[in-house]
Amino acid sequence: MSDPSPAPPAVAFEAADIGYEGVPVVAGLDLEIRPGEVVGLLGPNGSGKSTIVRGLLGLAPLLGGSLRLFGEDRQRFRDWRRVGYVPQRQTVTGGVPSTVREVVTSGRLTRVRPFQPLRVADRAAVDHAIEVVGLADRAGAPIATLSGGQQRRALIARALASEPDLLVLDEPTAGVDAANQEVLADTLATLAAAGTTILLITHELGPMAPVITRTLALRAGRIVYDGPAQDAPDEHDDGWHHHHGEPPERGTGLGLSGIGS
Ligand SMILES: Nc1ncnc2c1ncn2[C@@H]1O[C@H](COP(=O)(O)OP(=O)(O)O)[C@@H](O)[C@H]1O
Ligand SMILES: [Mg+2]
Repeated sequence: MSDPSPAPPAVAFEAADIGYEGVPVVAGLDLEIRPGEVVGLLGPNGSGKSTIVRGLLGLAPLLGGSLRLFGEDRQRFRDWRRVGYVPQRQTVTGGVPSTVREVVTSGRLTRVRPFQPLRVADRAAVDHAIEVVGLADRAGAPIATLSGGQQRRALIARALASEPDLLVLDEPTAGVDAANQEVLADTLATLAAAGTTILLITHELGPMAPVITRTLALRAGRIVYDGPAQDAPDEHDDGWHHHHGEPPERGTGLGLSGIGS
């Protein structure tokens, strides 16, 4: 069973520096994410998790090194419908009269030619995305009437509506109650089973842990751990020594601000 042309990595950073106004926040990033991987990116606040995602999406500049998406250099990459993105802390504010279905449909527009009516396949993809996040019974409801956790799920459905090959979620569980986190975990499991590559940024894996195939830990802009979730350093560790067997100590009062190069 030889595969003459194995699929290229979905994401390949090589010696990448990513930052703002010429100053790298993430330095020397080497990271390959292969198709079908479900990667959890962990790290304390300010360690550069969102910066990596912004670099991936072209929202923060690459100050050095290279990035390939699906084998294509980022400068030449155009196939953005293959990438779904759920940004950090995005909520739909009140006063927006859109229904859940309208919001999710807006995510499908990357696949629709301008001013063409939605085709059956597009409508089916929208319905499916709403179904997958468990909002079928709220599809016609104004988005502002949903709970925060439900709104996040609607935004995830919007990202899913384009049927991305790579789904990037930046802290989708932040401020989301336990029940909604379980629904999210189920959603990601369904997508992973269908072969979607997932990059999930989070403080703690929580209910997502069983879905994650690989865990990265970031400290002060550098990846200090890359491996299975059970050996990943706790956010409160310094990340350079791994724990085997022993649970990491918590609540030592050690702040994270002292961690750096
Ligand atoms: N737009 C920006 N301009 C300048 N500095 C930024 C910007 N966004 C983030 N930073 C800085 O980059 C560092 C990493 O931030 P971020 O990637 O958001 O961390 P995380 O997502 O892990 O909490 C922080 O020190 C933050 O202050
Ligand atoms: Mg962030």
